[in-house]
Amino acid sequence: MEEQTRSEILKTIPYGFYITGVVGSDGEANGFTTCWVSQVSFEPQQVIVAVQKGQRTHDLIEQGGVFSLNFLDTGQEELARRFTEPLENRDGTVGGSPYSTGETGAPLFEEAFAHLECRVVGKMEAGDHTVYLGEVAAANLKRPADILTDLDTPMEYGG
Ligand SMILES: Cc1cc2nc3c(=O)[nH]c(=O)nc-3n(C[C@H](O)[C@H](O)[C@H](O)COP(=O)(O)O)c2cc1C
Repeated sequence: MEEQTRSEILKTIPYGFYITGVVGSDGEANGFTTCWVSQVSFEPQQVIVAVQKGQRTHDLIEQGGVFSLNFLDTGQEELARRFTEPLENRDGTVGGSPYSTGETGAPLFEEAFAHLECRVVGKMEAGDHTVYLGEVAAANLKRPADILTDLDTPMEYGG
């Protein structure tokens, strides 16, 4: 019972939705929907992202040592859903979503309203996830928008 209460309380933590972009040592780009993200330092500006162990994108972030945060807006729930599935990197797209390559080498998805590029400067084991500490290396705001959050959709991650 307490287990269920813990889950319910954990599910009330609000999150923004992003596609985390990653790239392997052979240049394979990919991305996945992510909500366990937070800023953790002002100077230097650093963020953390928690990545589930055993998934393909975990291997890629380990290899590449960089990631991008691609900010999704309130109209992009379908895109967020698509990036919860394993996707193929083909013809300059990941699962049909075009990207350019940022200065760190991480993919920047064109549909996102803003991008942050980060270099991994630390990591911590966290049970079934690895928490990566990223230092912000570049930023790009493409248009003003409100970020998609778990308050806008039935999609959830946590508990
Ligand atoms: C709302 C939502 C948020 C998610 N947030 C995360 C996250 O913060 N970290 C993570 O590792 N996976 C998260 N996921 C799961 C990944 O999007 C999913 O496992 C994805 O398929 C991984 O890609 P891959 O299989 O190509 O490695 C989330 C899923 C949903 C539905």
